[in-house]
Formats: sequence, structure tokens, C-alpha cells
Amino acid sequence: MQKLSIQGGVALSGEVRVAGAKNAALPILAATLLTSDAMRITNLPQLNDVRTMVKLLERMGVKASEGEHHAQLRADAITEPFAPYDLVKTMRASILALGPLTARFGEARVSLPGGCAIGERPVDLHIKGLTAMGAQIAIEAGDIHATARRLKGARIFMDTVTVTGTENLMMAACLADGETVLENCAREPEVVDLARCLIAMGARIQGHGADVITVQGVERLRGVEYAVMPDRIEAGTFLAAAAATRGAITLTDAPVASLDPVLQKLREAGAEITVGDTTVRIAMRGRPKAVSLRTAPHPGFPTDMQAQFIAMNSVAEGTSRVTETIFENRFMHVQELRRLGAHIEIEGNTAMIYGVDTLKGATVMATDLRASASLVIAGLVAEGETIIDRIYHLDRGYEHLESRLASLGARIARVA
Ligand code: UD1
Repeated sequence: MQKLSIQGGVALSGEVRVAGAKNAALPILAATLLTSDAMRITNLPQLNDVRTMVKLLERMGVKASEGEHHAQLRADAITEPFAPYDLVKTMRASILALGPLTARFGEARVSLPGGCAIGERPVDLHIKGLTAMGAQIAIEAGDIHATARRLKGARIFMDTVTVTGTENLMMAACLADGETVLENCAREPEVVDLARCLIAMGARIQGHGADVITVQGVERLRGVEYAVMPDRIEAGTFLAAAAATRGAITLTDAPVASLDPVLQKLREAGAEITVGDTTVRIAMRGRPKAVSLRTAPHPGFPTDMQAQFIAMNSVAEGTSRVTETIFENRFMHVQELRRLGAHIEIEGNTAMIYGVDTLKGATVMATDLRASASLVIAGLVAEGETIIDRIYHLDRGYEHLESRLASLGARIARVA
């Protein structure tokens, strides 16, 4: 199994381009199921999750051809509206096929995602929403089996803010008969990016980016070319790595507006941040100051940046409190950070981080995608060599992370 070896202690410096957003690319790829026309998606990040989504669509009968950062897909005929367990278990976002398949083909079978390393992660709101739109849903042999003649517009209140739930129902509503009003929607920038793609395809959507989204169903959508937005979590990860190593880097093609909650916390940590239209420059002179935070749905602090900030706080001056409100078990990185010498205590959903002067290299194990990113940051800071095992998690969500960090001066290599 591949590992990363990092010789820490180098302040990152230089320039790096932000890749396309994983969490926008996945729903946009699923949206290609909504039209029989060819779709061309550009600025696709080279990630295992993107490959898995394309593979999933191909299994259903979608014709796909992939380039380095783009893909052409055509769902003119579907042979099997089915997302099988072997793919769903490697990528929960496979659930995003449920809404589009049911809306366009009147049938979908998607394996139930089940739990994962960061918690239980139910999909009840996806199911309730589609049921409200008239789908018949049964759970059969671990699969969600949805059937419908034509979905009907409905008023749907989601009692928890859910990103992929909002996306699934918004996609389904595009081809439903009449008006759908979605309440308590996720306001994440990736939901907005998906809505923009759907609108370009001819969907009639209003309110994306706010908590009530209204969709007027149409008979059909058309194929378009669409460029995926840049990845705010990848951008934030590079920024946190620069801050933790007391470096200075510039991000290009950065999703500046959607980075606000992260930039605010980095400024609080003492970083100098300069923002252009599509660039962000960070310079951290001296030791970062500890910053407390609480994760929340957008525009709050993203849960997908929590682990990286705990890594930065581990070497910051002072004590910080990080509270996780979205996923109940999202502190798996803490025990690994402790192996590097971090002083962190956990009480319920809060981590108390007592900043230490230095971390020391050790062998650690990645447990999920963002946990892996936090271990990379800690490894970049630690004295000596850090070996990170199970880096397949990283490859799900970061494009060529090691070569891009190496271009910023990091001593990092992939080893067998
Ligand atoms: C998405 C992101 C993930 C991010 C998360 C929260 C994608 C592909 N993934 O995941 O990177 O960490 O948003 O920002 O975009 N919930 C329910 N019932 C449901 C659905 C969700 O109770 O039917 C709960 C979840 O258990 C969780 C909360 O809602 O506590 C938010 O989860 P959700 O926004 O759905 O996460 P994902 O869309 O899976």
C-alpha cells in the first residue's frame, strides 16, 4: 500500500493553482443523467472520486470519454439505473444518482451508503424528499429502490441542512411536474455551482445560495459545456499548510468569495492575507496564534477544514477549542496527531488543543480524506520524517498533492 514520506521543517513558498472542486464535480457529473444530449464538463479534478463517478455512470449505460481535466458524457440511453454496492461503498456521493435517475427514467436502485469513518451519515432526507414528490420507495436487500411515473412538484422541508440531499432533490425537481419548494437548503457554494449548471441546461431554479430554493419543473433539459468551480477545501488546505509551516504562498484560480470563513480564521491566527479577483496570498510571519472555531453549514466554518485547522493549532501559540457540529465522529485524526507529539484532549464533540513548540516525525495512519490532509500538514511541520500510511484516502480528494506541495518546497515523496 502506498505511503507518503515527509521530511518536515520547510516553510512553504511559491504559487499553486487550485484544482476543480470535488464536491461540485460529483453532483454535476450526476446531473448529466438528466439529459439525453451530450454534456462536456471541464475543470474536472483528477481524483479517484471523479473516476468512480464516471465509472458509475458508465455502468448505467452512459457513454463517457475522459480527457485530463474534462469529460464528455451522454446519457441518451440507460441500460441499468443501478448504483451497486461495490461503487457506493467507496464513494457515498453515489447517492447523487438517485434523484436524477428517478426523475428522468422513473426508476433507480442505489445501494444504501451505510456508515463511514466520520459517523453514521443517514440519507433519510433524500428518501423523504423524493417520496414527497410522488416516488414509491422501498428498501430491498440493502438497496434504495425508487420508482415513479413522473415526479410531482412538492413543498419539502429538510429538518437538517444536507448538501447532497439538497442537490439530489434540486436535480429531481428540475424534471418534475410543477413547482417544488425546498426549505432549509444547504447554501454551500457547490450547491450554487450545480444550480448554475442546471440553469445553463434549461432548468428553472431560483434561490440557490439561500435557504429556500424554488424549482419550476420542465419537460426536458439540454446538453451544455460547463466548467466546475475551483475547490475551496483544497485551497483552504494549502493555506492552512502555509500557515502551519510559517510560509508564504499564492493560490491562483482560487474561489475567493467562498473562502471567507477560512480566511477570517487564518487572519485571526496572525496570517497576512491579500485577496485578488482569483488569487489569495498568505504570509505567516512567526508562529500562528491558536484559533477556536465551531463547524457549521455554509457560510459557517466548513467541517471539511476542521482537521487541517486542528493540525495548525497543534503548533500554535496558546490553547484553542474546536467544536464539530456536523459529524459525530470526526476526530479520528486526533489520535494520529498525538503520535506526532500534539497535545489534544477530546470531550464530546469538542477538541481542546494545547499548542506545542514542535512536533516530531512518526508513522501515522490516514483514516479519512480530510484527516489525511491534517496529517500531511502536521508532517510538513514536524522535525524529522513522518510516514503516512493508507494515503488512498488522499487520492480520493486531492489532485497530485505531493507533487504540488513539492513545488512549494516541501520534501515529500510517495513510497511503496
Ligand atoms: C457533503 C460533502 C462533505 C461535507 C458535508 C458537510 C459532498 C460530496 N460531500 O456531504 O464533503 O463534509 O457535505 O458539509 O458534497 N443528514 C441526515 N439525513 C440525511 C442527510 C444528512 O441526518 O438524509 C445529516 C448527516 O448525518 C450530517 C448532516 O446531515 O450530520 C450533514 O450531512 P450532509 O450535508 O448530507 O453531508 P453530505 O452531503 O453527505
